[in-house]
Amino acid sequence: MESECALEVAVEIVKDVGKILRAGMHADKKARYKSHRHDVVTIFDRRAEEMIVTAINKAFPDHGILSEEGTAKVGTSSYRWVIDPLDGTNNFLSGYPQFAISLALMRGAEAQVACIYDPLREEMFTAICGEGAFLNGEPKHVSAQGSLDGALIGAGFSSRPERALITHAVLEHLIPHARAIRAAGSACLDLAYVAAGRLDATWYVSLSPWDVAAGNLLISEAGGQVSNLEGAPLTDPEVGILATNGRIHAEMLALVGKKRSL
Ligand code: IPD
Ligand code: CA
Ligand code: CA
Repeated sequence: MESECALEVAVEIVKDVGKILRAGMHADKKARYKSHRHDVVTIFDRRAEEMIVTAINKAFPDHGILSEEGTAKVGTSSYRWVIDPLDGTNNFLSGYPQFAISLALMRGAEAQVACIYDPLREEMFTAICGEGAFLNGEPKHVSAQGSLDGALIGAGFSSRPERALITHAVLEHLIPHARAIRAAGSACLDLAYVAAGRLDATWYVSLSPWDVAAGNLLISEAGGQVSNLEGAPLTDPEVGILATNGRIHAEMLALVGKKRSL
């Protein structure tokens, strides 16, 4: 019951935030750099976070919160929201139409609820643990692609150049095998697309918990597989994440596992 109610709150708030981001695409975004010159934040990332955090605090005052732009609240219950208020900020800043809002409700280390919303396409990817994955209310499953030959793969370039170059080095081995590679710049949408069968796999070398928390639940609920780059359970997305339809996981691991550092 808690999960259904949490998903309702999540869906409602991401729709509201989505309206702000849609309008924001055409506004002055007042961007500034965070840790380095590839890592940007806009007033919209912060506004989105504020809206989401306010809604969650109102609905679930005892829940903890971890959100990318700085909100870190220790709750009094075992539930904690992990939030990326705007995933794909570099795209958003340039008006490139690929970004989303990602919310996950965790209980300890286990995701209970996932909600990823693409406000431009009005696509709402949702999951509740044990109940399957959905896109705008329709059940979704990972693709049936059985081998890397013929697969469409999402490549994730870290915003840290030295980590992005590791992805670049893997591409040399991957390109001869895959049907095609895409690098669209929103990790949570790449994960949602694997869950929805639009990508057969994606991998990233360097991500944070808010990039992957919702996407991972969507993929497991859609019948896919997520691991680190050695095939072990994902504990720290910073060291790398491989998400696939399951059928091509071993083939992908053999390639992406080769290169974890330069
Ligand atoms: C970034 C995007 C991008 C990925 C970066 C992330 P942000 O998130 O997901 O695709 O390559 O590593 O940091 O900063 O736009 O929320
Ligand atoms: Ca992100
Ligand atoms: Ca973000």
